[in-house]
Amino acid sequence: MPFEKPVGIFDSGVGGLSVMREVRRLLPAEDLVYFADSAHCPYGLKQPGVILARAFAISEFLVARGAKLLVIASNTTSIVALDALRQRYNLPIVGIEPAVKPAVAATRNGRIGVLATGVTLAGDRFNSLVERFGNGVEIYPQACPGLVELVESGGFNKPEAESLLKTYLTPLLARDIDTIVLGCTHYPFLRPVIERLVGKNISVIDSGRAVSQQVVRVLEKHGLLRHTTLKGKEYFFTSSEPGVVEPVVRLLWGDPGVVVEQAEI
Ligand code: DGL
Repeated sequence: MPFEKPVGIFDSGVGGLSVMREVRRLLPAEDLVYFADSAHCPYGLKQPGVILARAFAISEFLVARGAKLLVIASNTTSIVALDALRQRYNLPIVGIEPAVKPAVAATRNGRIGVLATGVTLAGDRFNSLVERFGNGVEIYPQACPGLVELVESGGFNKPEAESLLKTYLTPLLARDIDTIVLGCTHYPFLRPVIERLVGKNISVIDSGRAVSQQVVRVLEKHGLLRHTTLKGKEYFFTSSEPGVVEPVVRLLWGDPGVVVEQAEI
């Protein structure tokens, strides 16, 4: 039965878990298969061709595991690979993009900062987002090398996280922004530190909730929603060492019983 199949979710590493937790919140009955491409993380410093090849390999793996829908829980990968994946696979694919549109709606002073990877900020999709929804608002992009690696190592509460974030937030604060977009799925795990550094008057927005709402809409539209009172299961895979990735997944997913399996793809 197609609706009994899992939803496949992937990212360069553990960041996409910030999207998966929103999907889980809205869809308690669905089985979810997550792939963390930790052996190739971070994507934000790679050539688009490399990211595209990884996106194909991972999608192949998730489709082979029966995925009925794919969620690209990575802004960087969505920017590079969303169109190509949609052309190749005959199944619904949901991507993610920085929440520029909601930020433009939310800003009071017309000044927004966008934190993301260099690949995301350099992509045509990002430029087109700004052109379509910018609406006269000042949008300040800020690439944040190093943050993904910190989250990958489980170090989001370490002093390094705070000092790196200060480096990236200071120029934005100097621009008097009142809204910050978290345009990388790793960054919501740094939200407490970011909110502490910027203070209460600056809104911090990410796309996780909007993506999970889109997943519900698309599953509904294709008649793929699982209707049961049973709780869905989660399956976790990584291209790297499970011994390294598993403790971080347990921490971020909030379940000490999580098992991460290795898939060499
Ligand atoms: N978490 C991903 C994103 O949303 C990828 C980050 C990276 O690997 O550089 O962009």
